[in-house]
Amino acid sequence: MKYALGIDIGGTKIAAGLINQSGEIVKQAVIPTEAVAVTPEKKINQVISELKSMIEDINSDELIGIGIGAPGPLNGKEGVLTEPPNLRAWWGAPIKRWFKESFSCPVIMENDANAAVLAEKWLGAGQGCEHFIYMTISTGIGAGIYSHGRLLTGAYGNAGEVGHIVIDPAYGTSACGQKGTLEWIASGTAIARQATALKGKPMTSQEVFEQAAAGDQELKQLVDKVFEKIGVGCVTLINLLEPERIVLGGGVTNVGEPLFSGVKAYVEKFAISSAGRNTEIVPAMLHQNAGLLGAAALILHQNEG
Ligand code: BGC
Ligand code: NA
Repeated sequence: MKYALGIDIGGTKIAAGLINQSGEIVKQAVIPTEAVAVTPEKKINQVISELKSMIEDINSDELIGIGIGAPGPLNGKEGVLTEPPNLRAWWGAPIKRWFKESFSCPVIMENDANAAVLAEKWLGAGQGCEHFIYMTISTGIGAGIYSHGRLLTGAYGNAGEVGHIVIDPAYGTSACGQKGTLEWIASGTAIARQATALKGKPMTSQEVFEQAAAGDQELKQLVDKVFEKIGVGCVTLINLLEPERIVLGGGVTNVGEPLFSGVKAYVEKFAISSAGRNTEIVPAMLHQNAGLLGAAALILHQNEG
């Protein structure tokens, strides 16, 4: 049996696991990302010691590599997190080097959503597709583009940064210093921020969805606007890349039907081609495991496509 170690670095937690070639997560550990007074290097050292214990029971030649998914912008080739807006403390962190110092196997790093699209292709909602896009809507918004049977990485691994397309500069300046980006308007963080300003008290995105569904008109308007802007993002992707399908994942998509019908309505109306207007918009299947399985796929499927 062949195995890969997968690491999914996120805003609140790092998931690490041992994954076999059938796509089973054999062992798994979760470590919080933002603990006070712990540097990224110390965090990664913690992850490394978890990984070392995970591989104790397998033969050393069964481990074929380590895959890492992380929020961008990053430099995948160098394995450095350059400037991820939702992981400020990690700017400049040479992640790949830290792993290389502890393991002799190959280490591959890609953007988290770029890794996740490979997982959805392998075991989830992208099976059988040659052209599809995975878009995650959570703390941040990102996408992985699978086109012509392979992952589109761009020169340094930052292709697919759909959260940073500019929807409308009038929405103000985002965490990354840009104006009116999709992430600034429609991420989970953005929904909570806008509702908090509307209501003058702290609100989570889940409360926003619940109260909008229960009839709060102000919040319903906010939610409809958010779904429409996600539709704008999808139309942009469809017009540029013509996927067969867009797979939507991430915490915000747990709201389900209203989001999917809002996005579909926008796509059916505004994509430029008739094929584009019929693009399937479907929920992700792998949920919180997509990042980890995708990180493993970077290693286990590296010679495919
Ligand atoms: C980052 C993306 C990432 C997304 C989801 C965004 O803020 O720029 O690279 O894929 O968050 O984590
Ligand atoms: Na991406």
